[in-house]
Amino acid sequence: MIVDKQGRRFRNLRLSLTAACNYACTYCVPDGKRLQAASAELEGEEMVRAVSLLVYGAGIEKLRITGGEPLLSPKFDEIIAGVMALPLHDVALTTNGQLLPRKADLLVNSGLKRINVSLDTLDANRFRAIARGGDLATVLQGIELMLDANVKVKVNMVPMRTANAEQVLPMLDYCLERGIELRFIELMNMGHLKHNAGYTRDFIGMDELLDAISARYEFVRTDAAYDSTSIRYEIPGHGHFGIIANESEPFCSACTRLRLSSNGYLYGCLSNTECHDIRPLLSQPFHLALNALQEILRNALADKQNLAFSGEVTVMKFIGG
Ligand code: 5AD
Repeated sequence: MIVDKQGRRFRNLRLSLTAACNYACTYCVPDGKRLQAASAELEGEEMVRAVSLLVYGAGIEKLRITGGEPLLSPKFDEIIAGVMALPLHDVALTTNGQLLPRKADLLVNSGLKRINVSLDTLDANRFRAIARGGDLATVLQGIELMLDANVKVKVNMVPMRTANAEQVLPMLDYCLERGIELRFIELMNMGHLKHNAGYTRDFIGMDELLDAISARYEFVRTDAAYDSTSIRYEIPGHGHFGIIANESEPFCSACTRLRLSSNGYLYGCLSNTECHDIRPLLSQPFHLALNALQEILRNALADKQNLAFSGEVTVMKFIGG
């Protein structure tokens, strides 16, 4: 197992099935441009092989399927079946929820236990202004279908001062009523936001969020796993919520994430454009590929930041955060 000076190793893999997305969220892409599939995305079979290689060669225990929007990928059905058959402790999915109603049966039958739905508002007009695609009612219907089937749901919300700040409590109420853990993600300074005054204007940090929540609820901070990105709070008698405090309480020093882009590149860090092509390994005999992987992993681990995310101009949108 490859471990760095800070004791970090890879344990969690985030697999981006496609760079394409059916939304064009304001914080993700500029000017409402929809993200397209990357020019040479791996085949479904290659992705499953890559995950298998990383399970055996990198010690990956947890997998999250992301995008772009993963449910848009025609390879989704093949990939979910393939990865569910691997010896992983945990497989999860991050989706914008737009295709959940259509994929609900497949997801439930696949054995997937939990999903995260990205949802920034419960107001249909605001929704259109932020996502610039899709429709709110469909997402809410998808969430209900998952809950009815006992799939655990978390909701991710990026609070932004000018776009949805007034939605913090309504979103929290909606989630608490349904046993959903809401996770607030501090707006990250990346992509087109990096050189944009809008970032400073829209950023809402953890302290301010906690202030807003304390107007309605009492809560206590709970313990979290060593490599958890989310700071969890319990609202006694009501449930939990979390804050992913990229800026207020950075978690790079305990990061165990590895990312594989849809076109076959490994990224050791979301804050670094360095990436490592593993496509050539996918046509090699498994044992040779496992050997060749080790040097790639060492390099990918060295790409991590020491302490804090420092902003990056390319990656989040197509490797799925
Ligand atoms: N800052 C914070 N969160 C972001 N996401 C996408 N871009 C950003 C950003 N700049 C979120 C999405 C989704 C998750 C995968 O990442 O809303 O919930």
